[in-house]
Amino acid sequence: MIREPAPAKINLALHVRRRRADGYHELETLFAFLRHGDEIRLQPGPASFTIDGPFAAGLDPSADNLVTSAASIFAQRFAIEQDYAITLTKNLPIASGIGGGSADAAATLRALARLHDIPLEDATLFACADTLGSDVPACLYGRNALGTGRGEQLEPLDGLTDIPVLLVNPNVALSTATVFQRWDGIDRGAIPDGAMLDRARAGRNDLEPPARFLAPAIGAVLDRLEAGDPLLARMSGSGATCFALYDSVDARSAAAAQIRAAQPDWWCLESTLA
Ligand code: C5P
Repeated sequence: MIREPAPAKINLALHVRRRRADGYHELETLFAFLRHGDEIRLQPGPASFTIDGPFAAGLDPSADNLVTSAASIFAQRFAIEQDYAITLTKNLPIASGIGGGSADAAATLRALARLHDIPLEDATLFACADTLGSDVPACLYGRNALGTGRGEQLEPLDGLTDIPVLLVNPNVALSTATVFQRWDGIDRGAIPDGAMLDRARAGRNDLEPPARFLAPAIGAVLDRLEAGDPLLARMSGSGATCFALYDSVDARSAAAAQIRAAQPDWWCLESTLA
């Protein structure tokens, strides 16, 4: 059996530059990954798909799913006829801007590649990822990167690792498509050059205003995170999960304790940038 982690992704900055004729948006985004996430377990055998873990109830294993889609696209593109028993442990909240579904799809592709001795840099594997969704190539890559195009064109970035991170979600699910639809169409410029943390701090998340309109609780989450004196606090992706980066584990733990005491219903995860 192959056990493959599906790390959560965060967007340290996300600049929306323009709406494209194909309905997608041209982006510039700084991807980073966490040491926590979902997990895929996969082995050859009669086809099955099972979901367990704290957020399993939010997904229907018999419905269309990025994990089973990843397995069928892999079979098609690599012409491998084989069934698999797949289990997904869903630790991340669903539709929350931290790449859960994309990370699960990417982990499925990585597990299948390992099983069939395909190198993880294989261009066909990236083509599978690209078909599955805009964030799946970044999740397949799994390291700090600048994403352009719809987010699928990747350039590696050095620097920011081992940074304490806190993730907070006010238990709101947001549809990525709906948030993008509400973007105001104004290009506010590129992410400045420089070291990754400086770039992140000088950047923005252009999806935050539309996401806050749809889910006002995001404003309360950001206020709480800012109060803990972070290096940076921002919404990730299309929301509603927000993150904060800290200069020490103690600062992260203190911020987490305060937020948990004030808002016991919010989802809160203490992690580290990979
Ligand atoms: O690529 P993916 O299927 O994950 O995207 C979900 C939806 O988010 C798209 O259908 C589109 O409405 C929106 N999107 C976008 N521009 C991007 C990425 C996603 O408009 N760069």
